[in-house]
Amino acid sequence: MSDRITSALIGGKHVSSRNGTSHRGAGASQKPALEARGVSKTFDGQVVLRKVSLKVMPGEIHALVGQNGSGKSTLIKILSGFHTADDGSEASVNGRRLELGSPAAAREAGLRFVHQDLGVIGDLTVTENVLLGERYPRGFAGRIRWTEANALAKARLARLGLEIDPSARVGDLDPRCWRQPASGWDSTTRRRHSRDRRP
Ligand SMILES: Nc1ncnc2c1ncn2[C@@H]1O[C@H](COP(=O)(O)OP(=O)(O)OP(=O)(O)O)[C@@H](O)[C@H]1O
Ligand SMILES: [Mg+2]
Repeated sequence: MSDRITSALIGGKHVSSRNGTSHRGAGASQKPALEARGVSKTFDGQVVLRKVSLKVMPGEIHALVGQNGSGKSTLIKILSGFHTADDGSEASVNGRRLELGSPAAAREAGLRFVHQDLGVIGDLTVTENVLLGERYPRGFAGRIRWTEANALAKARLARLGLEIDPSARVGDLDPRCWRQPASGWDSTTRRRHSRDRRP
């Protein structure tokens, strides 16, 4: 880790090793699910990350801890390909080298991110936001099949318990609609949701 952020192992599920024994984390034979080595980042001459290393074994859950501005988001944005990293920075996923600075490579490697900031584009529709960076369903002469694209977005949102018109412009939505529990939620999800909304 850098001098200003640290990683804490906070849990994880038990995973099976090759010899059949169950354990948390992994034995020596397993490759890290994610590894960052010597990751550095300089913004306008200011060093934000200095040779950060992080190893996450299969089944482990880590928390990245540090003060505001210590570089947590910067590290995650480097892994997601949003930011480039300084020379000498390296990362791998399941033992395979990850090309840093490429969102497509991060996605291809199986990495997924839930960012701190909402990051939706108000001028685009719900469907366009959901499918951002993905291949749209297309038909004759490469025309986008909007009915199919909208159905795809709607189905994804339904999995999160959200009922939102996929063709609506995001900037026109009532922000509360992101939080409205759909009737399809089970009682545990509803309980968790109402607990999370308490001030
Ligand atoms: N695009 C950028 N250009 C210049 N400086 C940046 C940029 N992004 C972040 N920084 C700076 O890098 C440092 C680390 O910021 P970062 O957002 O990674 O911190 P953080 O640990 O995620 O903070 P927080 O707890 O507030 O989310 C800060 O000093 C910030 O001002
Ligand atoms: Mg942050």
